[in-house]
Amino acid sequence: MTTNRAGEAGALWGGRFAGGPSPELARLSKSTDFDWELAHYDIRGSKAHAKALAQAGYLSDGELTDMIAALTELDERVADGRFTAAESDEDVHSALERGLIEVAGAELGGKLRAGRSRNDQISTLVRLYLRDHAQVIGAQLVQLIDAIVSQAEANSAAPLPGRTHLQHAQPVLLSHHLLAHAWPLVRDLERLRDWGARASASPYGAGALAGSTLGLDAALVAAELGLDRPSENSMDATASRDVVAEFAFITSMIGINLSRFSEEIILWNTREFDYVTLDDAYSTGSSIMPQKKNPDIAELARGKSGRLIGNLTGLLSTLKGLPLSYNRDLQEDKEPVFDAVQTLEVLLPAFTGMIATLRFNTERMAYQAPQGFSLATDVAEWLVKQGVAFRDAHEISGELVQHCEQRGIGLDEPDDETLASISPHLTPDVRSVLTVAGSIASRSGAGGTAPDRVAEQLTALTTRVAELSRALGTAD
Ligand code: ARG
Repeated sequence: MTTNRAGEAGALWGGRFAGGPSPELARLSKSTDFDWELAHYDIRGSKAHAKALAQAGYLSDGELTDMIAALTELDERVADGRFTAAESDEDVHSALERGLIEVAGAELGGKLRAGRSRNDQISTLVRLYLRDHAQVIGAQLVQLIDAIVSQAEANSAAPLPGRTHLQHAQPVLLSHHLLAHAWPLVRDLERLRDWGARASASPYGAGALAGSTLGLDAALVAAELGLDRPSENSMDATASRDVVAEFAFITSMIGINLSRFSEEIILWNTREFDYVTLDDAYSTGSSIMPQKKNPDIAELARGKSGRLIGNLTGLLSTLKGLPLSYNRDLQEDKEPVFDAVQTLEVLLPAFTGMIATLRFNTERMAYQAPQGFSLATDVAEWLVKQGVAFRDAHEISGELVQHCEQRGIGLDEPDDETLASISPHLTPDVRSVLTVAGSIASRSGAGGTAPDRVAEQLTALTTRVAELSRALGTAD
């Protein structure tokens, strides 16, 4: 068992100190409360490092075998709780060295630390952790996108009022609207894939900051850890956390995308809108008002997006202004992303369940689709097709709206004479575009809401998601 001058088991430093750390410092410095999350990755890193040490001649074949066996044993003890961090352990690395020595003895256990530093270790481990969770979150996103796609397919012909400024604008298909929430999530999947390429550089071998003197094969360690390559610069490798910040950004963006969708579900679930009914299993009641059925999942999603953004901004503030290379400030990188991961991994399945079980009141949506003069643009564009300049067409259509608004009638209600009195260009034929279905079908330009275009985008989306699933390794 190693001890420092203060006699503390598991200390990784102490030789040049007259005494141990003050209790105040020890309490401040300690990170095992949160970095224990990385214990399994620390052991994986240690196995890879042991192989590099053996290859370079610092461990015999027998020692390597014993070292790997001891690390496997330690991993099992960690997994089932037989080995845990002690009060005297500063961090996960010191605790696990203490554990290794318990299993392998001081002679062999004491050899592993050669040629590595906690600085290159920690920078590697957080990447390994995030890469694994990128896969979990990616798979959960795919499930959510699938749920949105199923709802779009089940409601492929239903119209609703499309809005800008939250006001009725032009009628759209519900499937088009739903897919408008799926595409940002597809881009989040793309972001996770792209991030993965940058996160697969391995800092192991960078040492404390300047590289290792022992001739260890960093490419071997990278390959053992499933990473592409060693980091190009040892100082950058130990000091930069942009990979962590970028991950926090992606989780924030996912949170924001869920929050935007949530806001609509919350509105749609009001008595005034009455567009959706939430499944009982995915809504909550009130302790005092028996009639209440609340959209808590959507509200929690909206709320948790704030928390995710907070994690990102906190982390960015920590990184700002740090000189090269490692600084202890960097210990603050982990809690924000651990929290982001835990938050999303609990939120996404609940959100998916809410979407999958949502029932749409398509009758009410269809009834409202033409209201608010949402076909006025169709009138203007019909006039353009008759050869009227858009500037005039806009005016004529506006006058028609004013006429109908004053009388409290719909755009399709004025008789032929009234239409002609507003403008001779308004022949009875204009009625061909004064239906919701006609309006929707006519929006057949790229990315439009016409049924054919929506069917195309649905195919494009599902193809893209299948490709991304494969790239992220989440395909089942
Ligand atoms: N616990 C530190 C971190 O999370 C890693 C250890 C590096 N400590 C040090 N004194 N060099 O970043």
